[in-house]
Amino acid sequence: MRQKHTDDFQPAGLAAASGAFRIGDDLPVYRLGFGAMRITGKGIWGEPEDRDQAMRTLRRVRELGINFIDTADSYGPEVSERLIREALYPYGGVVVATKGGLLRPGPSQWVPCGRPDYLRQQVFVSMRRLGVERIDLWQLHRIDPDVPRDEQFDAIAQMQREGLIRHVGLSEVTVGDIQAARGHFAVATVQNMFNLANRRSEAVLDYCTEHGIGFIPWFPLAAGDLARPGSVVDRLAKKYEAAPGQIALAWLLQRSPVMLPIPGTGKSDHLEQNTAAASLRLTGADLDALNVI
Ligand SMILES: NC(=O)c1ccc[n+]([C@@H]2O[C@H](COP(=O)([O-])OP(=O)(O)OC[C@H]3O[C@@H](n4cnc5c(N)ncnc54)[C@H](OP(=O)(O)O)[C@@H]3O)[C@@H](O)[C@H]2O)c1
Repeated sequence: MRQKHTDDFQPAGLAAASGAFRIGDDLPVYRLGFGAMRITGKGIWGEPEDRDQAMRTLRRVRELGINFIDTADSYGPEVSERLIREALYPYGGVVVATKGGLLRPGPSQWVPCGRPDYLRQQVFVSMRRLGVERIDLWQLHRIDPDVPRDEQFDAIAQMQREGLIRHVGLSEVTVGDIQAARGHFAVATVQNMFNLANRRSEAVLDYCTEHGIGFIPWFPLAAGDLARPGSVVDRLAKKYEAAPGQIALAWLLQRSPVMLPIPGTGKSDHLEQNTAAASLRLTGADLDALNVI
């Protein structure tokens, strides 16, 4: 089924406080989303250790008003997309963004594969697993260095023309990659690693801000390091009576209006804590202090 979205969705739940962003100018989501990589097994491989907890977390996503979920065919592989469908189908306005373009030979192993026939196969597989006729946001997980970049982009543009994909995103790319891709299709989002402790994608973020492209920072909590006591944000956490991870997420949300953080967790209490960051506002002075860390 096609997912339905209206331009005037009602703010509801904790996530609404993060503000809205229109993916590709026509797909509104609240800016604080959810990353569904952590609802799988160790090494992002196989079933989650605690399946009930994973399902509870997914159902809580909707209850908290989050309407933007990031996943990939390779998370599990297959497991994340399958559990999302089990917990949330028919989605009811929740945008499920997925990705393709990585092979999984084993736990914690990720190998780019951008052959056009493989990308096409994986789009169909994701559609079937998620139970949709069109993927709202499909992201190329990695540009495969062994396949000409334009061949990968051409294949994606073709799938968009056929209506299999509504909007296209890229992941781990340079400004040059985005500019090249824009010759083939409109780039709706870019997903690069970015957090308080790792800002090597600052130039890409600035480009996205300038061009109204959604920027999805992966590892927004530095894989949990920024969520633990003892992190660099402790002082501000005490001041705002917040958890350290909430400071890291609030900083991201205030860094750019195109920022769409997708903190990942397999635990519903962590999800609740992370989502509460949507309403945290840091002062200009505190933002300045974080900017120079
Ligand atoms: N495009 C790419 O190449 C790429 C690469 C990696 C990830 N991603 C996407 O980005 C999303 C986010 O990245 P990520 O999940 O790797 O890293 P992250 O969001 O920076 O951190 C997730 C880690 O932090 C822990 N955590 C989360 N909330 C917490 C809290 N409130 N208190 C304490 N610990 C907490 C989680 O453990 P618990 O489960 O115990 O809460 C998990 O181990 C992923 O889910 C995935 O959708 C994309």
